[in-house]
Amino acid sequence: MAITEFRADFPILKTKINDEPLIYLDNAATTQKPQAVIDAISAYYTADNANVHRGVYTLAARATAQYEAVRDQVAAFIHAPQRESIVFTRSTTDSLNLVAQTYGEQVVQAGDEIVVTAMEHHSNLVPWQQLALRKQAKLSVIQLQPDGQLDLASARQLISDKTVLVAVAHSSNVLGVTNPIKVLAQVAHQHGAIIVVDGAQTVAHQPVDVQALDADFYAFSGHKIYGPTGVGVLYGKLSLLQTLTPAQFGGEMISDVTWERTEFAPIPQRFEAGTPNISGVIGLGAALTYLQQIGFAAIQAQEQALTEALLNGLLAQSAVTVYGPQSVAQHGPVVAFNVAGIHPHDLATGLDLGGVEVRAGHHCAQPLMQLLQVPATVRASVAFYNTTTEIDHFLTTLQAVKEFFQR
Ligand SMILES: Cc1ncc(COP(=O)(O)O)c(C=O)c1O
Repeated sequence: MAITEFRADFPILKTKINDEPLIYLDNAATTQKPQAVIDAISAYYTADNANVHRGVYTLAARATAQYEAVRDQVAAFIHAPQRESIVFTRSTTDSLNLVAQTYGEQVVQAGDEIVVTAMEHHSNLVPWQQLALRKQAKLSVIQLQPDGQLDLASARQLISDKTVLVAVAHSSNVLGVTNPIKVLAQVAHQHGAIIVVDGAQTVAHQPVDVQALDADFYAFSGHKIYGPTGVGVLYGKLSLLQTLTPAQFGGEMISDVTWERTEFAPIPQRFEAGTPNISGVIGLGAALTYLQQIGFAAIQAQEQALTEALLNGLLAQSAVTVYGPQSVAQHGPVVAFNVAGIHPHDLATGLDLGGVEVRAGHHCAQPLMQLLQVPATVRASVAFYNTTTEIDHFLTTLQAVKEFFQR
């Protein structure tokens, strides 16, 4: 089946925006959902709805089986060595906060160093910054090369025996670069530090193997990989998870409670307090099944072609500045840019009138914006269901919007 045929699986892509066909280029913010995901959520509520891990009755067993089957699926998807390493959370943000509130609280001490990169999303910066402030630890920032790629020399210089934790995006949501996690993990481990990887912008675009990367923790969101909002994943090495006291307490996460003490449930349940997002997890499972039917080879080929058309088309236009590498060999499916003399919000509003949905703003990376010396950028980001015709239409509409403002 040609990859373009999968587009028909996404009902929203038939929508019109301002009387124009929708051209959705904000896939880095969230992806659209295929009918298979919508149906799986609807089927769960229609036929299988019950709370998980609680009832002995048939419906509860059915809901629990479906929920737990997705844990196996996620473990296989990111090549985790065992299902117990997969914790369901609300989002990437929630996953990273979980690490900060458990590992961070229990391990980081005054004088320790936490290392992040200059391209981090606030989700993988603010939890560490706040932890550092609470603990009187030092937060250091790995710098970037002029083209936006991570400066490994800076990383090697900053990561030292004082470093306890390195937090890094697998792929940037602004610069379109993918970072050398395996190398960073090696450097961190040589100094006795752990590495926490934010995979929010990676998992939908390339195969991820947490063991090959040697990531200690790896976080991602369901909604950026064609699944529903409100569900996320935290992978953790079992040896690390076993040392952690949960940060959230309540139902589902215990095995025995008296007035005086509580014995926690085994891993990973001890990190999933309260009723989880059951339909969300089931929807995520449907999304992974759907993606695997297409296969990453086809997804990557299509997204590379789209990125090439997008990047080269933007670079060919007058007054356009593209942030991040200028060559498609180093550039992932996210392209941030500005047009001289026109505010990003004006550009995005003009594009919206033509049915083209792109993001304008700081992309939850204000320190990076400071580094780029801009308050904001426009960002176009592709998914496999986009077409080169859409990219052409985006570029023509952008040209028209530019001419309108330049007049
Ligand atoms: C690189 C990166 N990290 C983290 C996040 C946060 O994801 P969520 O809002 O799903 O928690 C995003 C979302 O835009 C992102 O792009």
